[in-house]
Amino acid sequence: MINKDEFVNELLGKMTLAEKIGQMSQFAGRGGIPHDLADDIRHGKVGSILNEVGVDLLNEIQRIAVEESRLGIPLIIGRDVIHGYQTVFPIPLGQAASWNPSIIREGARVAAVEAASDGVNWTFAPMIDVTRDARWGRIAESLGEDPYLASKLGVAMVEGFQGDDLSKEGHIAACAKHFAGYGYSEAGRDYAYVNISESELRNVAFPPFKACADAGVATFMSAFSDINGVPSTANDFLLRKVLRDEWNYKGFVVSDWDSVIQLITHGFAEHDREAAMHAANAGVDMEMASHTYLAHLEELIEEGKVNEEDINSSVKHILSVKYDLGLFEKPYTNASSFPEKGNNNHLAAAKEAAIQSCVLLKNDHQVLPLKKENLKNVAVIGPLADDKHEQMGTWVFDGKAEWCQTPLQAIRKELGDDVNIRYARGLETSRTKNRDGFAEALAIAAESETIIMFMGEESILSGEAHCRADIDLPGVQNELLEEISKLGKQTILVILAGRPLTLEQTQHYVNSMIFAWHPGTMGGPAISDILFGKVAPSGKLPVSFPRMVGQIPIYYNHRNSGKPATYETFTYIDHIPTRAGQTSTGNTSFHLDAGFEPLYPFGFGLTYTHFHYHHLRLSSHEMPVDGSIEVFAELTNSGSREAVEIAQLYIRDQVGSITRPVKELKGFQRVHLQPGETKTIVFHLKASDLAFYNRTMQHVVEPGHFDLWVGGSSNGDLHTNFTVR
Ligand code: NOJ
Repeated sequence: MINKDEFVNELLGKMTLAEKIGQMSQFAGRGGIPHDLADDIRHGKVGSILNEVGVDLLNEIQRIAVEESRLGIPLIIGRDVIHGYQTVFPIPLGQAASWNPSIIREGARVAAVEAASDGVNWTFAPMIDVTRDARWGRIAESLGEDPYLASKLGVAMVEGFQGDDLSKEGHIAACAKHFAGYGYSEAGRDYAYVNISESELRNVAFPPFKACADAGVATFMSAFSDINGVPSTANDFLLRKVLRDEWNYKGFVVSDWDSVIQLITHGFAEHDREAAMHAANAGVDMEMASHTYLAHLEELIEEGKVNEEDINSSVKHILSVKYDLGLFEKPYTNASSFPEKGNNNHLAAAKEAAIQSCVLLKNDHQVLPLKKENLKNVAVIGPLADDKHEQMGTWVFDGKAEWCQTPLQAIRKELGDDVNIRYARGLETSRTKNRDGFAEALAIAAESETIIMFMGEESILSGEAHCRADIDLPGVQNELLEEISKLGKQTILVILAGRPLTLEQTQHYVNSMIFAWHPGTMGGPAISDILFGKVAPSGKLPVSFPRMVGQIPIYYNHRNSGKPATYETFTYIDHIPTRAGQTSTGNTSFHLDAGFEPLYPFGFGLTYTHFHYHHLRLSSHEMPVDGSIEVFAELTNSGSREAVEIAQLYIRDQVGSITRPVKELKGFQRVHLQPGETKTIVFHLKASDLAFYNRTMQHVVEPGHFDLWVGGSSNGDLHTNFTVR
């Protein structure tokens, strides 16, 4: 049997230039098979299509490519399968709060099986743009603010989609997107320009992409962004120097939707032809949606403006992925060989993911878990308590709203007839300013001892192009909460949202607060299990929650500055004496009105028991520059119920040839403990884990002194030091 390279080279040798350019062109589905599309496929002008669904339709489209085009090259069929297909999992940022690679792997596996059964063989996920801006709607799709966490979870997602062998049934190609820096869109406004240093790119934005490339992700997508003046889609530094030359990446790069012709709008190309030239020369192998390659590449090659060798490489990259997918041997999908979509196993996986993504932010007087036997009258209030569509979140093209189980349904099922449950929506939507529903909500709240509120953001308030400059609870939700809080009842707030919200004001109105993100199909039962203590929450924040929007960007792994803030030097605006004199000594870096810390730090999350970290020790306090150490700590569950803790390891490189972050996550693990139980947790820390890109962009481990923390959040619990020699 011939191997992949021989196969691909042989096929390439038979292709005309026009057919090669056809492979580099991805067409947007328009519903059905219009004549012109069928003709284009027959004539070898189409390498891929996206956003077309239905197994019969896709098999027919594939049949035209395989049986009616000259060389019979199958299509690669793309779809945004971002957090589930018909069974919807929590939004990626929610899944990231599980800090659990297996949960993410399983979610992607289920999504892949369901999508593949419909004829899809390529998804545009994972989105691994590191972002520190909660205003940005696409934070919902991301895996948070930390390059280490996003790397581990991004790789798990790739593994879930692609499995161990792409050609096996139910495995689909993944796409690491958006390369690169998209998460730094200025002011958190989607599609805005990005100004980012090479150091920040290499040390923060690139690591998840590098990790996914190393894990064999089949494709990359270039970003929409103008990055330092050169749009990603025309950025040969990103797409050639880094991705191909340094990382030796072998998969293919697709542009984002129309991002090739947007080079004109950016002011980087004068017309379509120049846009095609820039994108092809930069290393975009496949053009999504727009058709400048089809229209101009042949001519550009004739004129010597694009090198035919580069076209050959692009086509090889694309054909290789099609080969890996097994499409040449098995282009069609036999839906009947797949498990049913939305089957009980898929729903159970979605429920477990939703449980593990919930973060308990506040729990005064241990109001949670609710004890069923003490409940008589419960009020369930809010626009997100019983709304199947809104709990699915952004980027849901195929999710079945009718399969969703809402919190209200789940609470009713859990409590049965013994408890009197009253429900009021209170507000028609999360953003309405109409207060007509307040009266009913307040009336049922007054008749109940326990009030469970479901508020947050409806799905459409986050995701692509859905950014917010104010990230408080939208509309008049805080007003309703304030009114309810005046009743002095035991009040629990469950927040469903696509981004971190500023909860400074909100937190004071309630006793307990669970952040459930957009939890997907099984959000209701998952939340109910947590409310009633069938399971203890274990989620930890994958992103810092600011007090106020003006603090953004605020993230735990910032650099120190020359005047870092301390509690001693911080002065709150109201405490400054009138006409106080200005001084330029003793000042530090903070906001007068918001301080210098987030409301909830990265890595934070409470549970129903208490965890105690103690006895931190190292196998050695000296680490050779090519060596490693073991980090040990004891973790005791000193509370009265079993729970899972996510133990975290952070370091700080005290002095570097470039200044280093005040903390960096370097390890985490889930530890399950019975009440009273103690376990020794062990982290293996390698010197290479401490490497960073220095001033000359070399990846180095620099000898010197390091801090090390182990604990339950980025605020650390236990601290020690070590030295790299
Ligand atoms: C635009 C988005 O930026 C990208 O993430 C997505 O995969 C494509 N559209 C395809 O829908």
